[in-house]
Amino acid sequence: MTNLVIKNGRVLDPANGRDEVTSILVENGVVKKIGRVRDTGNAQIVDATGLLVCPGFIDLHTHLREPGREDKETIQTGTRAAAAGGFTSVCAIPNTNPVIDSQTGLKFVFARAETDACVNVFPYAAVTKGQAGEEIVDFGDLVYYGARGFTDDGHPVANAEIMRRSLEYSAMFNVPIMDHCEDLSLTADGVMHEGFYSTKLGLKGIPALSESTQVARDVELAEYTGGHVHICHVSKSESLVYIRRGKERGVRVTCEATPHHLTLTDKCLEDYDTAFKVNPPIGCEEDRQALIEALKDSTIDCIATDHAPHTDIEKDQPLTDAPFGMIGLETASPVLYTNLVVPGLVPLELLIEKMTAAPARIVHLEPHGSLSENAPADITLINLDKEFTVDRDFLFSKSWNSPFLGMKLRGSIEATIVGGKIVFRNRAFA
Ligand code: DOR
Repeated sequence: MTNLVIKNGRVLDPANGRDEVTSILVENGVVKKIGRVRDTGNAQIVDATGLLVCPGFIDLHTHLREPGREDKETIQTGTRAAAAGGFTSVCAIPNTNPVIDSQTGLKFVFARAETDACVNVFPYAAVTKGQAGEEIVDFGDLVYYGARGFTDDGHPVANAEIMRRSLEYSAMFNVPIMDHCEDLSLTADGVMHEGFYSTKLGLKGIPALSESTQVARDVELAEYTGGHVHICHVSKSESLVYIRRGKERGVRVTCEATPHHLTLTDKCLEDYDTAFKVNPPIGCEEDRQALIEALKDSTIDCIATDHAPHTDIEKDQPLTDAPFGMIGLETASPVLYTNLVVPGLVPLELLIEKMTAAPARIVHLEPHGSLSENAPADITLINLDKEFTVDRDFLFSKSWNSPFLGMKLRGSIEATIVGGKIVFRNRAFA
């Protein structure tokens, strides 16, 4: 394996409190030294002058769609989209076909990732068999075979007794339950956030209560059991109240927010564009402001994309019929940099921490997410000044259902390094 010297970049490593212009020596796939490298030997030199050099991003919420929906995404195309977005690790959601709820399923994902993936893939397993919400999976077996967490994402775990038992297993095996919070009786056939715009547009709304009532329930269950509940894609201010309260009481509750919930509002559906249809639905401006505040005071632990590819055929339907979901891997960091960091709402270091060290802690991936000595050399190089427009050519996902198409953004991913190998550079893959 070729050694690397990443020279003269601004090295920002929140896990180690580092922010300085310096160089990184990568040997045998790991970070060997940060500082002046006198003897570069036969190492490949990567000139990072003027670039931000940070730990590779980690996404706790990626739908790779393989097996079963390879028309939307595959492990190959999804991990390419990840690398193009500066992500060096993704956690794969198990709502595939078949659902990943057995050791066979996990072995398939690991085997396919071994041959096809250009970034690290850490799969989750379902909480219930077939994500049907009825029979709990074999937690011990699935942890043994490499499940990083358990989730029925795409569907809530409606049965409180099943959630209670899974949180007991979570405590026993020290793995998080990645919790899609939604009360389907409240969601009913809603298609967007219930509020001013749903009324104006004549569309059936989904009340914030649909999310927040399950958040409240599951924070209580986590307190009772000692399990670790991780609230996926938190989107409404009401939910933050329960998460904050749980944290104050020492409950093992963490949560993630997505770039779309942090930067868009329900007004975006004014043109009935299905690219903006997502579950949980994008909230109102007050929700967005509450999410930004919660990101800053660390009620929100980390950023996750909820990258959810769908084909044109499915999305080119009336809003009521199109599926929920939007892609997000390629756009996550520039969208957040442009909309939160550039206007001075969120410090750059905080954003990087929430995309690297924080997600690593939640699913126990450290030292991934840091540039510590001997950590895997997962590194992202960003040109913070470079502007570009999101168009179809910019996206490497198999699907194009991005709400950010046509948007001008800042902060272009110049290179992505995984385990010491340059997998993406100058918009091409190794
Ligand atoms: O919008 C969404 N799409 N939300 C989910 O929870 C699932 C996801 C999907 O799988 O398409």
